[in-house]
Amino acid sequence: QSALVHTFNGIPFSTRSSKELLHTLDSFEAREDDVLLVSYPKSGTHWLAEILKNLYRTQQGANGCGTVTLTSPIEFGDPSKYEDLRNLPSPRLIPTHLNYKMLPVQLKTKKCKMIYIIRNPKDTAVSLYHYYKDNPNLPTVDKWTTFLEMFLRGEVVCGSWCDHIVSWEEHKNDDNVLILYYETMKKDPTECVEQISTFLGVNLTSEQIDDITRKSSFNEMKEQAQKEKVDANNTVCALTSNKRLIFRKGTVGDWKNHFSTRQNKLFDERFGERMNSSELAKSIEYES
Ligand code: A3P
Repeated sequence: QSALVHTFNGIPFSTRSSKELLHTLDSFEAREDDVLLVSYPKSGTHWLAEILKNLYRTQQGANGCGTVTLTSPIEFGDPSKYEDLRNLPSPRLIPTHLNYKMLPVQLKTKKCKMIYIIRNPKDTAVSLYHYYKDNPNLPTVDKWTTFLEMFLRGEVVCGSWCDHIVSWEEHKNDDNVLILYYETMKKDPTECVEQISTFLGVNLTSEQIDDITRKSSFNEMKEQAQKEKVDANNTVCALTSNKRLIFRKGTVGDWKNHFSTRQNKLFDERFGERMNSSELAKSIEYES
């Protein structure tokens, strides 16, 4: 196995998530107003983070006070991070790629708000493939075919996509959980921003919602990332601090440019078997 990846609880993690930290996740002290931003890698985490950041900033700008802190992912770093997180002002927006079972227990007992973004697994696999190729924090992969096999076996960082979704299945209707789909966000971003603001109890005018939608568009975010300096401590995804690696295509259906007919059939068979009874998987769209 590559020195860049280690296995914890049977799940491959980047070595940017230390074993010590993963062992002590339950010692994380949650606050009731923490907002968790959850995703399997490459599902639109940065996009959602940008929307949330702008949403709070707009609200607080109107009130003339307050801050919002977008923290690094819970699973990033070593246990010294708990101290750093303790010193941050509320509300904290906390990203994570952890599955439901691995979430620090206090986030569950304090019923913190959690937003889970899901992307269709074919585009997710393609996006992750390119991430493996471009990201120096991940092992190199050569062929798409080889990577797809790894993805189907769940032998990629953060493990099996199916396991991740299934771990959230029984919490999809919890009052503190909002489920979003990447494809729906692409189709109607304004509606999704509205939905998020309602969920968080943030009141915004339609002009403010439009403004947030514009600021968090793919082109706007990509352009912004080119200008920003790379800051090693600033990371939304535990797998990189370099935002320039994030904005590749930002479309729905790029999988069609990668999957052969045979690969598509195999994928549908394997996923069909596993996700048969998943309501979350049933709602997924594969084309724009
Ligand atoms: P692609 O590789 O298909 O382009 P994450 O933030 O979870 O790492 O997900 C990254 C994926 O989300 C990338 O997909 C990226 O282009 C896409 N993405 C990032 N910002 C986006 C935005 N504002 N709108 C649409 N897609 C976006």
